[in-house]
Amino acid sequence: MRIYDIIDKKRRGLALTQQEIDFFVRGYTAGDIADYHMSALLMAICINGMTDEETAILTEKMASSGDMLDLSRFGDGSVDKHSTGGVGDKTTLVIAPIVASLGCTVCKLSGRGLGHTGGTLDKLESIPGCRIDHAPEEFMKIASLCGLSVCGAGANIAPADKKMYALRDVTATVSSIPLIVSSIMSKKLAGGAKSIVLDVKIGSGAFMKTLEDAKELANRMVSVGRLNGRRVSAVITNMDYPLGYCIGNSLEVAEAVSLLKGEKRDSGLYEVCVTLASEMVALSKSMSVSEARSLVEETVSNGNAYKKFLEWISLQGGDVSVFDDLDAFSGAKYQTTLLSPADGFIASADAEGMGISAMMLGAGRQSKDDHIDPTAGVIQLKRVGDRVEKGDPLAIFRSSSVPDHSHSHARWLQSLSFTEEQPPSLPLVYEIIR
Ligand code: URA
Repeated sequence: MRIYDIIDKKRRGLALTQQEIDFFVRGYTAGDIADYHMSALLMAICINGMTDEETAILTEKMASSGDMLDLSRFGDGSVDKHSTGGVGDKTTLVIAPIVASLGCTVCKLSGRGLGHTGGTLDKLESIPGCRIDHAPEEFMKIASLCGLSVCGAGANIAPADKKMYALRDVTATVSSIPLIVSSIMSKKLAGGAKSIVLDVKIGSGAFMKTLEDAKELANRMVSVGRLNGRRVSAVITNMDYPLGYCIGNSLEVAEAVSLLKGEKRDSGLYEVCVTLASEMVALSKSMSVSEARSLVEETVSNGNAYKKFLEWISLQGGDVSVFDDLDAFSGAKYQTTLLSPADGFIASADAEGMGISAMMLGAGRQSKDDHIDPTAGVIQLKRVGDRVEKGDPLAIFRSSSVPDHSHSHARWLQSLSFTEEQPPSLPLVYEIIR
């Protein structure tokens, strides 16, 4: 087999066989296929696409290029969730204890934040003592004890994806749907869960900007997961503004804790979490979504989900006494309040710009090695649809390492628009693909 012939076949728009896909994934991961050959193949895939069957094979080959977690000891109850990334997205911290408190098992490999989006690992590390670097056996042991464990994806999870993603980034091939699907789903397959719920975000702060694109991505990920023997559903959710009130690591943990304690349910975060958790429970327990939803709402209101959260964080080494005083936990050295420059309704809020504003305080990284300030972030006091008068407080800005918040304030204001008329409200959940 020659890589030249595989490139030529895809250039002519033909479907590749399992053997051909296996050949180029193995060869590229091992360093036997050059970047220039792989770049040409990626561009041919980008232009001519791949069938669901080809994409499913590519996904499996990328997943098995490295370590695959074996969750067979948890039977059919293992369930995972993936978000395509957003601003203020602290759903994992809320959903994972909810579904674990209902008897499902969540063994989750998570990532760090980059650019305007946050990452679960950074949020967990803002809790004193909480570790996210467990060895595989310890990771499994925590999950066996409490039904829930989260740690960083090691270097050998889908190494083919790491190499291919780096090349896509510099060859204008990131936007190809089969390449995005295989990249995301290969890491999910390697994570080993039998059921997977995908939170596909659309809007100004998301990777997918239109409902049409998000639907195509969601449908293809569901098909590819199923072709690989997993139960999958996808929920398309709004990322036209940040999810919930807070952006920033300890602030988001505090918000998740409040929600699990039954407070602050009015921001849309609760509804998104309940929707995703219900899908996870329904898939992994093979029950109807309405039945699952009643269980999810009950486990939050009777306090079991919060108890599970405390058990989980303690097992990961975290000091849960900090949650007795959430203001002290998320407090920072410097705090400023941004006032409204205008009268009117907040018509829109560009989530990406707001994420960048929080990043400028130290809440996120511009490049992989940047240092994070766990206390940095923004608390929104006014959100899209709210009426404000000039001089009203819009948001509180916090940091412990950046004393001057003026650049963050300016970026935040640039992200807002004001109108005289009350703006129509946008859906929180657009569609569910099962
Ligand atoms: N996230 C991924 O992991 N891969 C992509 O290709 C796009 C988003």
